Amino acid sequence: MDEHNRPIHTFQVCHVMEPNQNNWLRSNWIFRQAAQKVYVELRFTLRDCNSIPWVSGTCKETFNLFYYETDESHGVKFKPSQYTKIDTIAADESFTQMDLGDRILKLNTEVREVGPISRKGLYLAFQDIGACIALVSVRVYYKKCPFTLRNLASFPDTVPRVDSSSLVEVRGACVEHAEERDTPKLYCGADGDWLVPLGKCVCSVGYEEMDGACFACRPGFYKAFTGNIKCSKCPPHSFSYGEGAAVCHCEKAFYRAERDPPTMACTRPPSPPRNVVFNLNDTCLQLEWSPPSDMGGRRDLTYNVLCKRCGPEPDQCQLCGEELRFVPRPQGLTNTTVTVMDFSAHANYTFEIESLNGVSKMINYPRPVAAITVSTDQGGEYTYTLTSDPLNPEPNSIALSWLEPEQISLLVVDYEVKYYEKEHEELSYSSTRTKAPSVIITGLKPSTCYVFSLRTRTSAGHSAYSPKYEYETTDDSEYLIPPSLYQRQNPVSPLFFSALPYPGVKTYVDPDTYEDPTQAVHEFAKEIDPTRIRIERVIGAGEFGEVCSGRLRTLGKREIAVAIKTLKGGYVERQRRDFLREASIMGQFDDPNIIRLEGVVTRSRPVMIVVEYMENGSLDSFLRKHDGHFTVIQLVGMLRGIASGVRYLSDMGYVHRDLAARNILVNSNLVCKVSDFGLSRVLEDDPEAAYTTTGGKIPIRWTAPEAISYRKFSSASDAWSYGIVMWEVMSYGERPYWEMSNQDVILSIEEGYRLPAPMGCPVVLHQLMLHCWQKERSQRPKFTDVVSFLDKLIRNPSSLLAESPGEVVDYHMFISIGDWLDSIKMSQYKSSFVAAGFSTLDSVAQMSIEDVRRIGVVLIGHQRRIVSSIQTLRLQLLHENGFHV
Ligand code: ADE
Repeated sequence: MDEHNRPIHTFQVCHVMEPNQNNWLRSNWIFRQAAQKVYVELRFTLRDCNSIPWVSGTCKETFNLFYYETDESHGVKFKPSQYTKIDTIAADESFTQMDLGDRILKLNTEVREVGPISRKGLYLAFQDIGACIALVSVRVYYKKCPFTLRNLASFPDTVPRVDSSSLVEVRGACVEHAEERDTPKLYCGADGDWLVPLGKCVCSVGYEEMDGACFACRPGFYKAFTGNIKCSKCPPHSFSYGEGAAVCHCEKAFYRAERDPPTMACTRPPSPPRNVVFNLNDTCLQLEWSPPSDMGGRRDLTYNVLCKRCGPEPDQCQLCGEELRFVPRPQGLTNTTVTVMDFSAHANYTFEIESLNGVSKMINYPRPVAAITVSTDQGGEYTYTLTSDPLNPEPNSIALSWLEPEQISLLVVDYEVKYYEKEHEELSYSSTRTKAPSVIITGLKPSTCYVFSLRTRTSAGHSAYSPKYEYETTDDSEYLIPPSLYQRQNPVSPLFFSALPYPGVKTYVDPDTYEDPTQAVHEFAKEIDPTRIRIERVIGAGEFGEVCSGRLRTLGKREIAVAIKTLKGGYVERQRRDFLREASIMGQFDDPNIIRLEGVVTRSRPVMIVVEYMENGSLDSFLRKHDGHFTVIQLVGMLRGIASGVRYLSDMGYVHRDLAARNILVNSNLVCKVSDFGLSRVLEDDPEAAYTTTGGKIPIRWTAPEAISYRKFSSASDAWSYGIVMWEVMSYGERPYWEMSNQDVILSIEEGYRLPAPMGCPVVLHQLMLHCWQKERSQRPKFTDVVSFLDKLIRNPSSLLAESPGEVVDYHMFISIGDWLDSIKMSQYKSSFVAAGFSTLDSVAQMSIEDVRRIGVVLIGHQRRIVSSIQTLRLQLLHENGFHV
């Protein structure tokens, strides 16, 4: 019976009383398919030998698992000597007679890997050597990255490499109706997970993206460009009948000009101009008209003027001669007026004015025009000048007057004043008649610009309109002064400001600022008498010479273990200076998480740098050697030490530039210390550093984007590298971004990809890594925040249990001081808090009112507000963390 009390078939053996058992069970031939490595999952029960009397010499509690690769089935033939042993399998749980009585089934599950395998198939075999076993099931499987669709590209089933640290790069194929934007790629990881999506496909014209596929635009819609934009409704006066339209076609009598984009509405030629009038004097004839009532949906409106001279019959017209001059020109006019000169007296001219736009030439039928006939010998046409009375009778009215024409031969019947709102052109206008040469017009709108013009009516008819006169009415409420709503506050200037990273903390001095590098070394490092040093073993090779381990007799006559870096003979001065630069830097530091410099030997040969000995060597190889051996708390302890070392460096104003697990050393107590100092030289020395396009040498996988692209190294770029070190630690020395090329790493980071959580990594730690990898460097955590965050995790280990997102994470630890001050409207004190060293909410929670005063908050009201918020903060932290702050 299985655990659900259902009957099952098992293979059993139980010859526990007989010596020298050698019983075999072999599987059928198993087809390998695409596997390069297979997993064998065994479920079995095993009887505890202690629970069976009289079998102490013969009863066994293990069995052996074997395999044999062949290209074909061997039928019933079986030769154990052909088989290779995979492992001895023992039970985690064995059962006793009592369990049997209680019908308790203690089922064991064991998984073993077999590979690499290359033949067509394989057999599995089980050897029993005298145990009491029931084999319940055998599951043989391999892992693959399953077919998937990502970024509109399909990726086939892919079998991972046998070697778990290298990835398979797979190119995707665009889905139907999509095309490549950047080559779509995914990497298949050892566990069958797809990693690092790069590049993408986008939907072709006429198709839009929906749920990972490209669908044709519906009728009435279109998409004119390739890309992940949606189909749009056809623009006005256009349509698409079918599906998948790239453009919409114009309705009848509507058109698109050659340069109109497909997104633009279809348009039509304009209607003819309206209200053509003329104004004639001795030398020039001015024609004026109003724009057409229908612009055809476009703005590129122009006018052409054609002149004809006609006889008494309408069909006796001929085009005017070249002597007529049009100012500015007869064609392509953009204003609604043209002046005609050099015309003959005593002639009849007919002017045809045509409106045109960008699609006028698309029609081949005659275009409608507005025409006016002018007789140049009619006489009595005069122009008038309008003037307004500066003392207008009331705000919304105007008093206009003009001079009566002097040389008029005909009797004036009356004057007509036409006026309209300038903004509305002449689409609608009002007029008033008067016999006197003046008028008062009332009922105008306030704050509105009006246009006026005037014409005379004589017994011979109307004259042309006078030139236009513009006038803007006043605002009724002009004298109301708006109340001032806000009074500007002068920002309170912080009373305290410091340019140092922390006031009172020692600052790092760049040894290159010393003219004589030997002087720098002796400023910061003790000279050691070489007779006090005993070199014992060579433990590695550095850029400048061997690295040895040995002993140093201290001045107190005690012997301590040391590592000794030597400068090999034949060096040039520059190499000596670069070699000793590291000592000049290291000698300035004094912190339990920074490798300690014991001293230097410069006055005899070989030149040496002596540092404390770190028994477990560099962190990356140490972790690889002890894969899976530490508890999460131990790993977090290492990370805390590294963060604390880098916090010390950043407080000193030193930027490391090459934080990586290979540059961290580990001692026998698992204490991690930052090593490898020397600025640019560090990078020259680092085999991971690659040349960038700007010629610098940079360890791409560990370096922040701004440092790669424009060499912006800072404590914030060290924070990025620290995030990568976290990932290296939590994955036991895995290579960041595996086997991806540097170029792909840069590209994927740019596209927003970040390393996933290593197996078994608590979600809080991965979130901290992601925090360190923020593109915007000011958003990355400060090292002091990282240390206090890790301290909290260590004190409160239950927060490390969550291994998947969605479980609760305490974000309050990352609210910045800036956010907090903004929330209580005290932003003006940000720099005062930071300058005084209060850069985490934790540190703020400890502040007293004296501290608040001391950092420069002088106003009593502000002190109260800040202190009251600090009290709330304290309660919150207390509540969330369950410990006292
Ligand atoms: N390799 C380089 N420096 C070392 C040190 N200080 N201790 C042990 N191994 C090292």
